Order: sequence, then C-alpha cells, then structure tokens
Amino acid sequence: MTLAEQYKAVRQRSEQICSPLQIEDYVVQPVVDVSPPKWHIGHTTWFFETFILKPYFMGYQEFNPEYNYVFNSYYETVGARVIRTDRGNLSRPTVKDVYQYREYVDEAMYSFLCHEPSPEVKELFVLGLNHEEQHQELLYYDIKYILGHNPLFPAYDKSYTTQHAEPVEGFVSISEGVYEVGFKGEGFCFDNELNRHKVYLSAYEISKAVVTNAEYLEFVKAGGYQDFRHWHAEGWAWVNENQITAPLYWHQIDEQWFVYTLRGLEPINLNEPVQHVSYYEAYAYASWKGMRLPTEFEWEVAATQFNWGNNWEWTESAYLPYPGFSKAPGAIGEYNGKFMVSQKVLRGASDATPPGHSRITYRNFFHPNLRWLYCGIRLAR
Ligand SMILES: [Fe+2]
Repeated sequence: MTLAEQYKAVRQRSEQICSPLQIEDYVVQPVVDVSPPKWHIGHTTWFFETFILKPYFMGYQEFNPEYNYVFNSYYETVGARVIRTDRGNLSRPTVKDVYQYREYVDEAMYSFLCHEPSPEVKELFVLGLNHEEQHQELLYYDIKYILGHNPLFPAYDKSYTTQHAEPVEGFVSISEGVYEVGFKGEGFCFDNELNRHKVYLSAYEISKAVVTNAEYLEFVKAGGYQDFRHWHAEGWAWVNENQITAPLYWHQIDEQWFVYTLRGLEPINLNEPVQHVSYYEAYAYASWKGMRLPTEFEWEVAATQFNWGNNWEWTESAYLPYPGFSKAPGAIGEYNGKFMVSQKVLRGASDATPPGHSRITYRNFFHPNLRWLYCGIRLAR
C-alpha cells in the first residue's frame, strides 16, 4: 500500500467507528477519562496538522488557529490547551465543523503525500497512523462508557460481534533463565518497547486461558469484594469509596447478572473472558485463587505459547523505562516517557484494537483503578 492508501484506510476507520453515533453522542464527557468522540475526531486530525503539515508542508494554511487550543491533548511543547475535564463542555466547534476540519487536513495530507517524505517525516507520519489507531481503540471505550452509562442502555450496534478464542486448559511452563525482551526487527514500534534487553526470570507457569465470567462470578459470589485480605490497601479503599461489587457494566437484576455490551444490556455469557476489571480487582482475584498476575516479561516470554487478543491483560509490572530508553527531542518526546509513573503495564490486545496494531512487545499502560478499557485477567504461579 502507498502511504496515501495507508492514510486513507486509517482515517476512514475512525469515521466508520463513529458512524452509528447520533450527534448528541459525540459531545458528552461523563467522566474525565472519557473524551467526547468529537474530540477524538478533531485531535487525531490536529496531530497530522501540527506535526506534519505545519512544519513540513510548504505554504500550508492552518485550518483554524484556535483549534490548537481545543485539540492539543497533553503536549506542553505545543502550547496552552483546554483542560482535559472540560472537553465535554465544548459545544463548539460543532461536529460538522470538526468533520470539515478533518476533510481539509485530509486533502492537504493527500497533496503532501504526492511526494515521498524524508525518512524523519515518514517516521512522524507512521507515528500519526499508530496514534490514530490508539484513538480508535479509545473511541470504542468512550462510546461504550457514554452509552453504557445512559439509563436506557442504548445499543451502539445491535449486530456488533466479537470473536473469542477456543477454550483451552492448563498452564505453560517456563524454566528459569535469562531471556530477551523488547522490540526487535524492522517495522514500527513505540519508543517504550526499546531497548531490547535481557531479563532473568525464575521458573514459572502461566495460564493458557484467561479468566472467564463464570470463574470471576465465583469470586463475586464468594464475597471477594467484601474480604479485605485479597486486596491491596489502595484497592480496598477504592472498593469502599466507590462501592464496587462487580466488574464495570455488570448489573444484577432479580438475582440474574446482566452486562452492557455494544449490543445493549444482555445476560452475561459465562464462557466469555471477564472484562472491565481494574488492576486492583485482577490482583484480588488472583490472590483469592492462590495465584498471581504475570509480570510483563513473563507474559512476553510465554506469549507465543497461548492465544491472546480479546482483552488487554493486566500485569504485575509497573510502567517503567527499559534500559537505554530515551525520549525523542521536541514535542514527540512527550508521547510516552512522561507517563512512566504510577501506572501498570497491560499486554496483549483487545477486540477494540485495530487489526495489526499490537504485537508481542507492545506495552499498554493505565492507572490501576481504571477499568473502562477492554481489560481482563491471566493468572500465573
Ligand atoms: Fe492523542
């Protein structure tokens, strides 16, 4: 595929994800972590405009100089911006304005891509595509949260389907030793996957299957959420402060458990992987089972030997720089490095991850209390 074709495919996919939305769905921000879909559509456009067109496309006229303020996410280098909690207060620019912005930038990008960009600019371009793919995943999380917290539980798409791996049993055994982890090869990777380096692992076993709803329901029924012994102090405080009694989107109605999916509210499918649990819950469940979560390196070393890919999987690892990690100069250096504090690494990929976006060395990361992402649990011992 040419660069223009790659660009078109990625840009169209974001719009396709939004196609079942009504105008009103585009604007709301029910909690700080959930950005309005309109904002994602504008911000991913702003990324190409700011990091490619403005610096590298001679004669490019910015669509609207005020948009830098509303669509800059967290780049201090690029200037002041609307605070994150206020993204849902923006009734203007309208959804129509934002799609016009998108079209304008796309036209400019197609002209720009008529000539092969320099290797440095091409690198930025590929980062822009991967960035937009990350926002496509966030769009699913945010749309689900917006609709799933509406008391009417509207469906996003009544025919939305997900694929699940064949059921498997047992554990993969890995012997103690020194292993190499981190990205190797040609292709694109994020800076946080470098440098490839050696780690020592003690012998361990890691489950071939992820924890199912049926298994997790046992923990709920056994009073797991009422027993402090399974929880970190922080997790226990989180459970109590927020009165957590089950995964996000679970609802108990007349003794029966229902779950909000993108198809609407439906009875829980017990065979499916449990989804939407925080790191705190993943840890508590593992502790209740007499096991633990794998570290990110245990996961990576074993990952060729089990199926992964319906949910991101919480690991026991803190999100830290690898040996030799360095931030790129300028605004792009703000992409990953500045978030390497107080977060947990998740490995794998989810149903919301664009095809081909993730890989075995990919490091996703979130704060331990968050669970609106598509995440689940794999056990180790
Ligand atoms: Fe972003």
